[in-house]
Amino acid sequence: MNITVRVWRQANRKAEGKMVAYPLNGVSEHMSFLEMLDVLNEGLTMRGDDPIAFDSDCREGICGMCGLVINGVPHGPQQTTTCQLHMRSFNNGDVIDVEPFRAGPFPVIKDLVVDRSAFDRIIQSGGYISAPTGTAPDAHAVPVPKRDADAAFDAATCIACGACVAACPNGSAMLYTAAKVTHLGLLPQGQPERDSRVLGMVAQHDAEGFGGCTNIGECTAVCPKGIPFETISRLNRDLIGALAKGKAKA
Ligand code: SF4
Ligand code: FES
Repeated sequence: MNITVRVWRQANRKAEGKMVAYPLNGVSEHMSFLEMLDVLNEGLTMRGDDPIAFDSDCREGICGMCGLVINGVPHGPQQTTTCQLHMRSFNNGDVIDVEPFRAGPFPVIKDLVVDRSAFDRIIQSGGYISAPTGTAPDAHAVPVPKRDADAAFDAATCIACGACVAACPNGSAMLYTAAKVTHLGLLPQGQPERDSRVLGMVAQHDAEGFGGCTNIGECTAVCPKGIPFETISRLNRDLIGALAKGKAKA
């Protein structure tokens, strides 16, 4: 395929960015989207130009590092990670726009790389359990109902990619925060900090500048792990419960 890739180029956080068009010939439909960018970068490097900065690590859909807005959609036309998107999803002659995930709390570091450390700080505000260290307990020492285990596992599949934020008109990270709150809140091991977890993580979410959820649902439409919208309802129930308990104590 012969395509044109229009890429957001921005030297650093403070520099002004712009779209730059790069024609690219002989693209195999079997290449992943990131491999296509590798080939483009090889050409740029060979002719002494600055290669395009973009994030990736596992390239198998599990680490959450990759994330580009492709033709206006976070992770592109398939509901998968950018690294699992292949060029067979595009056609000969296509002009493909590639931009970084855009949100106030995700400032651009360079080109297509954004700073997602706001997610780390949300986790630090409650996304953990207290557990005694030492020898690992027997596998069945803490029974977990199958339904809870399955639902907790589904929530735990969130890879913290940030596509939900980039898709949301409010720049909300509620789907991400809800997945993390739900994952631990459904398990017996997550109960001691259940209230402080939801209060702390939602407060940090807001402090980072993410917007509120207004039930638009763009987040779930692009989530590569299919985290369902009802996860946010679950977070809201936990939050209301924790706030009510706080008021009762006051
Ligand atoms: S909820 Fe989905 S889109 Fe959002 S960070 Fe997790 S995996 Fe990515
Ligand atoms: S590079 Fe790890 S999920 Fe895409």
